[in-house]
Amino acid sequence: MVELQIMGVVLAGGKGKRMKSSLYKVLHRVCGKPLVGHVVDVLEQIKLTRTVVIVGHGADTVKAYLGDRVEYAVQEQQLGTGHAVQQAEALIGQEDGLTFVVCGDAPLVTERSLRKMIELQQQTGAAGTMLTARMDHPAGYGRIVRAEDGRVLRIVEHKDCTPSELEIKEINAGTYLFNNRMLFQALKEVTNDNAQNEYYFTDAVDILVRQGKLIEGYCTDDAAEAVGVNDRVALSQAEKLMRERINTAHMLGGVTLIDPSNTYIDASVQIGMDTTVYPGTKLSGSTIIGEGCVVGPNSEIVDSQIDDNVTVMQSVLNHATVGSDTTVGPFAYLRPGSRIGKGVKIGDFVEIKNASIDDGTKISHLSYVGDANVGKNVNIGCGAITVNYDGYNKHVTEIEDDAFVGSNVNLIAPVRIGKAAYVVAGSTITDDVNGNDLAIARERQTNKAGYADKLRNRIQSKDKV
Ligand code: UD1
Ligand code: CA
Repeated sequence: MVELQIMGVVLAGGKGKRMKSSLYKVLHRVCGKPLVGHVVDVLEQIKLTRTVVIVGHGADTVKAYLGDRVEYAVQEQQLGTGHAVQQAEALIGQEDGLTFVVCGDAPLVTERSLRKMIELQQQTGAAGTMLTARMDHPAGYGRIVRAEDGRVLRIVEHKDCTPSELEIKEINAGTYLFNNRMLFQALKEVTNDNAQNEYYFTDAVDILVRQGKLIEGYCTDDAAEAVGVNDRVALSQAEKLMRERINTAHMLGGVTLIDPSNTYIDASVQIGMDTTVYPGTKLSGSTIIGEGCVVGPNSEIVDSQIDDNVTVMQSVLNHATVGSDTTVGPFAYLRPGSRIGKGVKIGDFVEIKNASIDDGTKISHLSYVGDANVGKNVNIGCGAITVNYDGYNKHVTEIEDDAFVGSNVNLIAPVRIGKAAYVVAGSTITDDVNGNDLAIARERQTNKAGYADKLRNRIQSKDKV
């Protein structure tokens, strides 16, 4: 038996006028991922033999984002969703099998529903199966008109509805599965005789029904799946629904979210068991967080890898790595290239950039460490900084294991502090310090006996004049 081939067509050619944006609609992000990325990802889970993305507005940007994961067909003029699907005919019109047609602006469709649609289509031998949902406020969506016996008859766009059709709560989610050949045949008969003068893809349903073919509707119980993002209001709704899904999956996976409605985790982020995330925290990009960590409140972690049992308080991390049992913050800023070891303390108002900080080192308060390699068990005192930039070039500071850098030290790079060396507080260090040496570079203090009162008197007598 020949295996059934299933293909996909993703509609991503429209302008997205209602977004009022210079960014092309399907590239707007939901939980960190472009709308069309969510759609293509879910189709990939089905393992389609071919996926064709219809591009038009912003074609180059969409292609640049999706790359060669899919094939493309260009829709030069946006004459409607039916016209958009027709653009795939040259590529797949002659294939046998089934074809999913999905909207590039519907990021919440699930693999589960796509599989249910395949099942229903195969069980019933239907020519097509559409994903539907029930909505209390279905404004804007196409309504599903069924016959008395429950058979799907047609889809009527909101703008073309009669008053009684407007009352229908079952809507078209914009995801369909069709017998491929029948679909392209039916599309030839679609006209633009409607309120929007567009070639509606949805009319293919009506055409096939009138040919006596069966169209099934699989009604999902999760109306979120049907959300199509046409404007920024829907974008925020999609974001909220996707966030609920992502956060629920983390909680079921053993992560404590103190307030999931105020915790923002991108679709791509991984978090280990028994980690607790406090409110106001945003975890994004390729971030991976280990087990038993405490993150937040009010922290932002971007593209960073964090090992087990790390605490991050009220801090910002961007392209950083953090070893196990380390604490970061409150109010620390780990910038790109921060490589923090195990059991390190990065305290309050500490900024690290392009620097490795090895195991057991403490940088407890108010420091800047940039372009540096700091060894193990180093102590960097309050207010000590690396002076890495001379206005033209960046220079490197090396601090070897067990060194002690006192408070308010300026390390003028390039400079090296040797193993177990001791740099006295308040020093401005311009020359290398050898291992075990003590460096002091500051003015000697003079105390003038009884001078405080003298000074006061002088100032007061001046004031009287
Ligand atoms: C469409 C459906 C509606 C359904 C809703 C679900 C039609 C006629 N209507 O309406 O029944 O309830 O989706 O979200 O299909 N596109 C193109 N080329 C075009 C026009 C659109 O590629 O010429 C793409 C858009 O980029 C978008 C998708 O098709 O990703 C859907 O188009 P859109 O204008 O958003 O359709 P809706 O009005 O939302
Ligand atoms: Ca839409």
